[in-house]
Amino acid sequence: MAQKSKILFIGGTGYIGRFIVEASLKAGHPTFVLVRESTVSDPVKGNLVEKFKSSGATLVHGDLYDHGSLVKAIKQVDVVISTVGHLQLADQVKIIAAIKEAGNVKRFFPSEFGNDVDRVHAVEPAKTAFATKVDIRRKIEAAGIPYTYVSSNYFAGYFLPTLAQPGLTAPPRDKVTIFGDGHVKAIFNKEDDIGTYTIKAVDDPRTLNKILYLRPAKNIYSFNELVALWEKKIGKTLEKFHLTEEKILKDIQESPIPINVILSINHSVFVKGDHTNFEIEESFGVEASKLYPDVKYTTVEEYLQQFV
Ligand SMILES: NC(=O)c1ccc[n+]([C@@H]2O[C@H](COP(=O)([O-])OP(=O)(O)OC[C@H]3O[C@@H](n4cnc5c(N)ncnc54)[C@H](OP(=O)(O)O)[C@@H]3O)[C@@H](O)[C@H]2O)c1
Repeated sequence: MAQKSKILFIGGTGYIGRFIVEASLKAGHPTFVLVRESTVSDPVKGNLVEKFKSSGATLVHGDLYDHGSLVKAIKQVDVVISTVGHLQLADQVKIIAAIKEAGNVKRFFPSEFGNDVDRVHAVEPAKTAFATKVDIRRKIEAAGIPYTYVSSNYFAGYFLPTLAQPGLTAPPRDKVTIFGDGHVKAIFNKEDDIGTYTIKAVDDPRTLNKILYLRPAKNIYSFNELVALWEKKIGKTLEKFHLTEEKILKDIQESPIPINVILSINHSVFVKGDHTNFEIEESFGVEASKLYPDVKYTTVEEYLQQFV
């Protein structure tokens, strides 16, 4: 069997990053995590870094804003996975420059893990955030760096525990506000599964220079279907309110950061249908659950059970 690629994570201590680092370790990839000195000494993140280390990860000290440290880290690996957050998305040009200089990278996964940003119909402020990811895509392609873009759609943990109801800590039991008419299909994937699928793609020639879409059949739900599933689970009918597109757009304009960002992403997904309103074509994409039918992903139905 071919050797598993060595993977460097930039942003491995972040929300989604830690799941992909864990999947990499579990799959037996030599796993390197770039960490800042300040993160190692942080009481919470320090523990996570220790956990990575005890699970076999190699820690590499460095910073996105320290070119020399990036090049040195990248030279030790074959594949780079970036999971940097919102504020660092544009600065991934620094990773591109370091990959070019290092000259040894077989595949780069930029920080994506959401909508396919080349196929969205978003309003501001999501529009600009998506455009930043598009710009990074074009720069990767222009630099001739082999890539995979992971379009994981919604992180389950961001949306399912509250059914996107602000201020709640569990799904609602009396009333629910539905974005739009509720008929548009969206996709929800558990973070561990996003990690598993991403790592499966690393050494797979079928995902080279492609978008890897996570569209497992049992995780595709309209808002109305999601509510109906939850009602069935708790044996209760909820009072339903629908937010019209006009009202959503007004709320976006009147809300502060980050509420306006979340609302505008919800608008793109639940009103415009940006998770599911296009077909995946061979020329640009592949679907993860079809490529890896052996992965037993957590379904939305199973995920919601914990809250019953
Ligand atoms: N689909 C969805 O539902 C969804 C939801 C949220 C996010 N996302 C997407 O997921 C991706 C990752 O977002 P996230 O929320 O997981 O990120 P996050 O939690 O904000 O994590 C950011 C990571 O970047 C690291 N970082 C920050 N500054 C750095 C620097 N100067 N040098 C090196 N590393 C640095 C952080 O390190 P420290 O630990 O040291 O701070 C952390 O590991 C983004 O593309 C985002 O748009 C998708």
